[in-house]
Amino acid sequence: MAATDSEPSLFSAWSYFQTQPPPPTLEDDVAGRGPGRKVALVTSGGTTVPLELNVVRFLDNFSAGTRGATSAEYFLKAGYAVIFMHRQFSLQPFSRHYSHSTNPFLDFLEIETDPEGTSADAARPKITATPSDNPACSTTLTFVTVNDYLWLLRAVSQELSVVGRNALYYLAAAVSDFFLPRQKLSEHKIQSGKGSLLIEMDQVPKILKPLVDEWTPDGFIVSFKLETDPALLIPKARAALERYGHHLVIGNNLNQRKHEVVFVSRRNRGSAVSDVDAHWLRIPTDAVDARGQPKEIEEDIVAELAKRHQAWIDQSWSQHPG
Ligand code: PMT
Repeated sequence: MAATDSEPSLFSAWSYFQTQPPPPTLEDDVAGRGPGRKVALVTSGGTTVPLELNVVRFLDNFSAGTRGATSAEYFLKAGYAVIFMHRQFSLQPFSRHYSHSTNPFLDFLEIETDPEGTSADAARPKITATPSDNPACSTTLTFVTVNDYLWLLRAVSQELSVVGRNALYYLAAAVSDFFLPRQKLSEHKIQSGKGSLLIEMDQVPKILKPLVDEWTPDGFIVSFKLETDPALLIPKARAALERYGHHLVIGNNLNQRKHEVVFVSRRNRGSAVSDVDAHWLRIPTDAVDARGQPKEIEEDIVAELAKRHQAWIDQSWSQHPG
């Protein structure tokens, strides 16, 4: 509409919203972020510890990011909004299926041709991007070093605390236990030629403690415990529950992690940590899912978590209705 010389109308905030139309997407946008929407923060991949300020060498933690990326897909399918916080270049939801392909770009495309060759466009293949699952409600954040990870986790969890019990933290990242504080870092490349290299590292603070107590006290917090000695798994998971006071530890052994995990939690909230429930999830190595694809244990992990998280939310409503 062209501008006119007539007197400008004076809108109060009230009259503005009474008279002006909302954008067509508003309802969906708000529905996606309303109080009922559950959010999963998924951390994934390993962190690095630089040994120099001008980094030539660094220590790394084992993790391809499979657990996190796969779980993020199932959280999306379960209706969660997902914040996917991952190590740069580790596996990501959906694209993980193509990371080892020798023809990765073309594999992303579904090419439909007209088999009868009757349509006018028969010679022109129709190309659509896959997958069809809509990851639109997800956000991706990237870390590399353990320092990046800790700062990012703190900032995100503080922001996410506004959704209270609707937030689920799924801490699958393999976080370094030791680091070199900035003050101890050599500015330039550590020189060889002086014989062996001795480095004394400091312990990374256990970030779960402030996460649970201060940053997001209402969130449903799930940590992972990775071991290579099966006998240590449940005792170490129990110790983590005791130390941090969070909801659940998922234990996994390095070599069986794709086929079995154990959920370790208190039998009752507030009960002694010596009284823990150890619930095993197992899938046969040749299991297939409903689509005939090899079954992924993350499907069952996320289904079980969604159930427990909902129970945790419902419990708060029964204690503090309305
Ligand atoms: O990515 P994949 O190749 O599929 O492998 C997945 C996995 C085996 C890495 C994953 O399933 C897993 O077990 N992740 C956690 C491994 C780990 O770092 O464990 P941890 O014992 O170092 O830490 C235990 C928990 O404390 C973790 O949830 C971690 O997020 C948290 N932590 C760790 C260090 C630290 N300073 N603060 C923390 O809060």
